[in-house]
Formats: sequence, structure tokens, C-alpha cells
Amino acid sequence: MRYFVIGNPIAHSKSPQIHAAFAAQFGLDDFSYERLLAPLDAFAQTVRTLMAEGGGGCNVTVPFKEEAFRLADTLTPRAAAAGAVNTLQVRTDGSLLGDNTDGAGLVADLLRHGPLAGQRVLLLGAGGAARGVLLPLSEVLPAEIVLANRSVDKAHALVAEFAPRLAVPLSACAFAAVEGAFDVVINATSASLGGAAIPLPDGVFAPSALAYDMMYGKEETAFLAHARAAGVARRIDGLGMLVGQAAEAFALWTGRQPDVAPVLAMMRGAL
Ligand code: ATR
Repeated sequence: MRYFVIGNPIAHSKSPQIHAAFAAQFGLDDFSYERLLAPLDAFAQTVRTLMAEGGGGCNVTVPFKEEAFRLADTLTPRAAAAGAVNTLQVRTDGSLLGDNTDGAGLVADLLRHGPLAGQRVLLLGAGGAARGVLLPLSEVLPAEIVLANRSVDKAHALVAEFAPRLAVPLSACAFAAVEGAFDVVINATSASLGGAAIPLPDGVFAPSALAYDMMYGKEETAFLAHARAAGVARRIDGLGMLVGQAAEAFALWTGRQPDVAPVLAMMRGAL
């Protein structure tokens, strides 16, 4: 069966290497996974073409995740909550199922580094990346989730939308107003892209805190450099989330749950 990753641009995508490694774990010779560049105004057409040619599904990346959300005939609860779809599956009746595996990929990666249940979690950012992980993050029952964002209004709007549906307390504040120490601090802003530090109060990291940046790269991100300077020993970048979200998509398509660790090690070596 043929699978794809659709985006614009797409040449940089690491997903083909990741899915090829997963397929090799199971000896799936008939599983193929290719990059597909969609014109900015022709995402839906590109998906229809791949369906007509017998494709089994696709991953969706920037800037098409919201369009994929609108295109799907059925949504998983986590995709509905995220308002975005990163995985489409062509079902046997020809309809399109939309899922979002980003949050599950993050949670799986976090759980490989420590517990989340009962922990105080600070989530930085209130854009698509933060929205996409709120529901899966809440399902592992942290003690609470505090959402901090540069534009505090956006954080309050997310809280108003999500708090009634989550099983854990959710609140919002500005960076400077973050109070107390957190066990897990997750950067879901795009601040690292520009190398900007996030102005957090001293003491925001608990003594054995985990700092997690959804961004990754060969060099340390600005957020993880800040965490290191604050004495945080456990600092993780988002490469494991990337491999984790791919693992969830692969499992949806093939019914097989791949082993993430060796693929993550391979991807780390190739950075
Ligand atoms: P994404 O889909 O990656 O979440 P987005 O929806 O554009 O992208 O959201 C970007 C997030 O990064 C927002 O939370 C944004 O803060 P604002 O809502 O205040 O714009 C945050 N962000 C971007 N650059 C930042 C910076 N230099 N410092 C702090 N936050 C920043």
C-alpha cells in the first residue's frame, strides 16, 4: 500500500526515513511512503488524486493541517479537539478518516522520560501546536495544566474552550505571571525558531523538572539552553515527538505498533 506525506514545502521532511524504518521492523515489503508537494491552492485535489490511485492515506504537514481537518469525512476525538489533522486514512468505503497523532507522540515521548500523572505541567504557547496536544496531555492525568502565552488573551480563549472538557484543572496566564514550580515545562511556541528566549520567572522549574521543547535541531534550542542555564538536568527536544507521531500514524494504517527507540536513535545520528 502507498502512503505519503503532503506539505509545502516538503523536501526537508524526515517522515519517509522514519516510516521506512518502521516498515522494515515488520518486513512489510508492500508498504511505501513518499513525499508529495501539494500546490498551496490544491491540497484537496492532491489528496483526491492519491486516493484515486489507490493510496492508503497520508500524513499532512505545514500548511495543510487545518485544510485536512475540513476535508476529512470523520474525525477522531483528538483530531476534533486539535482542530487540525496530521494523518488521513482512506477507509474501505472510500471515505477519509482524519486523526491527529501529534499529542499522542508528545505524550509517549514524555512518558519515556518520566511520569506525568500527578505532575504540574506548564505548557508554553497557545497556537496550533499547543491546541493539538491539550487533550492527549490531559488524559494522562497531570495534577494540572497551566497555559502561558505571550498574548495572554489567546491562552484564555483556549482555556475557555478546553477547560469544560478536560478531566484536569486548566488555567492561563502571562509568562511573567507564572506562579510556583513545575515538574514538566513544555515549549509549544515557535520562539525557538528565531532563537528568542521566553521570559519566564525564576523558579519556574522544580528541582528535578523535565524541560521539553517541541522543536528540535542539531543545535540546542533557545528554550533548552535557558533550561540548562536554570540548572534543569532533564532536557528533551522534539525529535522523539516527531518519531512518536509517525509511530501512531503507522499503527493506524497497518495495525502494527512499531518500536520507536531504535528509529529515534537512527534519526538522532542523522541530524
Ligand atoms: P504553531 O502552529 O507552531 O503553534 P502558531 O499557531 O503561529 O504556530 O503559534 C505560535 C506560538 O508561538 C504562539 O503561542 C506565539 O505566541 P503569540 O500567541 O503571543 O503570538 C508563540 N511565539 C512565537 N514567537 C514567539 C516569541 N518570540 N516569544 C514568545 N512566544 C512566541
